[in-house]
Amino acid sequence: MKLPLGLSLLALGFGSQAPLIAERGAPARIAIAAADEPGERMIVAGRVMGPDGQPLSGASLYVYQTDKDGIYSKPVNDNRTPRLRGYMRTDALGRYEYTTIKPGSYPNTRNPAHIHYVVNASGFRERIFEIVFAEDPLVDQRIRDQAAREDSVFSIRPLTRDRQGVWRCTQDIQLRR
Ligand SMILES: [Fe+2]
Repeated sequence: MKLPLGLSLLALGFGSQAPLIAERGAPARIAIAAADEPGERMIVAGRVMGPDGQPLSGASLYVYQTDKDGIYSKPVNDNRTPRLRGYMRTDALGRYEYTTIKPGSYPNTRNPAHIHYVVNASGFRERIFEIVFAEDPLVDQRIRDQAAREDSVFSIRPLTRDRQGVWRCTQDIQLRR
């Protein structure tokens, strides 16, 4: 059945926003891409810490990304409701880890592939930024200059490949009060 435009958009959840905070008790290690998700497998891990480098346990991470073709969601491409997303709470040592695939650049753009982060811990300021990959030729000088600033929205991370051919990336996050 064909619905009037407004109704079909409503049915698709258009206009809604995925939560930005993980539920209490969310796991520290998750998979945000199923085993059959097309793309190159990647594992991202790191720690959340406070200003003195002390590990923050129970910190909330919301991470989201495009698929390998640079698409957040279908049929409507909307970064507020990304298909590949996940919620974590850091473990007692402040650690988190997620299994995913390497995202793609937005179609027909020079925008580098990236993974968005929203990080929160009570008593600390929220951190919002995105990982881009050091070897990506689309990471240009403007992004490098921006990434060098304190609390930048860009974090340029190197990727290494493990013996199974899985990309490995680390991303630690320091929060301020
Ligand atoms: Fe994005």
